[in-house]
Amino acid sequence: MPGPQYIDVPTYKLSHGGSIPAVGLGTWQSQPGEVEHAVEVALKNGYRHVDGAFVYKNEKEVGEGLKASGVPRSDVFLTSKLWCTHHRNVEEAVKRSLDNFGTDYLDLYLIHWPVPLNPNGNDPLFPRKEDGTRDRDTEWSINDTWRQMEAVLEKGLVKAIGVSNFSESMLESLLKTAKVVPVANQIELHPYLPQHDLVAYLASKDILAQAYSPLGSTDSPLLKDEEIQKIADKHGVSVGTVLISYQVNRGVVVLPKSVTEKRIIDNFKLIKLDEDDMATLNGLHKTKGKRFIKPDWNVDLGFKDW
Ligand SMILES: NC(=O)c1ccc[n+]([C@@H]2O[C@H](COP(=O)([O-])OP(=O)(O)OC[C@H]3O[C@@H](n4cnc5c(N)ncnc54)[C@H](OP(=O)(O)O)[C@@H]3O)[C@@H](O)[C@H]2O)c1
Repeated sequence: MPGPQYIDVPTYKLSHGGSIPAVGLGTWQSQPGEVEHAVEVALKNGYRHVDGAFVYKNEKEVGEGLKASGVPRSDVFLTSKLWCTHHRNVEEAVKRSLDNFGTDYLDLYLIHWPVPLNPNGNDPLFPRKEDGTRDRDTEWSINDTWRQMEAVLEKGLVKAIGVSNFSESMLESLLKTAKVVPVANQIELHPYLPQHDLVAYLASKDILAQAYSPLGSTDSPLLKDEEIQKIADKHGVSVGTVLISYQVNRGVVVLPKSVTEKRIIDNFKLIKLDEDDMATLNGLHKTKGKRFIKPDWNVDLGFKDW
C-alpha cells in the first residue's frame, strides 16, 4: 500500500504585503534548555516561521536557535506579541523583544490579549489587586494601543501588525479608529473550538486567522479522540498530522508547539483532507465543544463559544 500523500506547506498573502508560511513553530511553555534546540531542529527541517512572545520568557533562546540553524534571518517569519502590562508603551516593548531575539525587525507583532493590565502593579507581568482579581488598566483604551502599534509599523521596527484573542465585537470596536487593519488574529482553533463564525468574519475583513493550541495544548483529549483517530488511520498518518492539516485545509495558519525532535519534524507534514474528513472535523464541536485557554481576566471578551 502506498504511504501517505503529503502536500507542500503553502504560504498565505498578508494584507500589508508580503507572505506568511502556513505552519509555524509554537514556543509557549518551551523551557529554557529546550527551545533553542527546538527552533534549530525546526528550521533545519523546513520550517520558516516561528511564533514567539515576550511573556513566554524565552525570546533570547529562540533567537539563539535562529542563529544556530544557519538559516538567514530574512528567510524566517518571526512573530512576537505585546504583553498586557506594556500597552502604554509599545515602542519600548517591541525594542525589548528585538533585543532579546538579537534582530532588528519582527515580521509580525501582535497585541497578545485585548486586556491592558496595570503597568505599575504588584507583578511586572501578571499583577493582581488585593482581592486576588486581575489588576486591569481600565483607564487605557485598546484603540490607543493600536495607534502605537501603527507607529512601530511606520517606523519599520515591525513589518506587519495584528492582534490575538480578539472576538468579533472587540475587532469591530478597534476598526472604528484603526488606520491600518490588523493582518492577523491569533486565536484558539481546533476541532473542539473551530470558531466558524469568527473565522468567516476574519476572512470577510481580509484578516488572516492563526490557530493556536491546534493540538489542544497540554494533555489534550483531541489526541485520544476516536473519530479523529479514524481519519488518521484512513490516511496512514498520526492524529497530530490530521489536526495540523485541518487548519491548513481551511486556509488558516497553524502554530503547533513541540520540543520533541520527532514531533517537530512530523508536525511539518501536511495532507489533503477530503470532504467527509472536513465535515467530521467541522462538526465535532457540536458534541465536544471545549475552550482550553481561559485566563481569568475578569472581563468578558465577547467570544460566543464556551
Ligand atoms: N496568542 C495566544 O494567546 C496563544 C495562546 C496559546 C498558544 N499560543 C501559540 O500557539 C502555540 C501552540 O499552542 P500550545 O503550545 O498551547 O499547544 P499545542 O501546539 O496545541 O500542543 C502542544 C503540546 O502537544 C504536544 N505535541 C506536539 N506535537 C505533538 C504530536 N505530533 N503528537 C502528540 N503530541 C504533540 C507538545 O509536547 P512536546 O513539546 O513535549 O513535544 C505539547 O505538550 C504556542 O506554543 C504559542 O506559540 C498563543
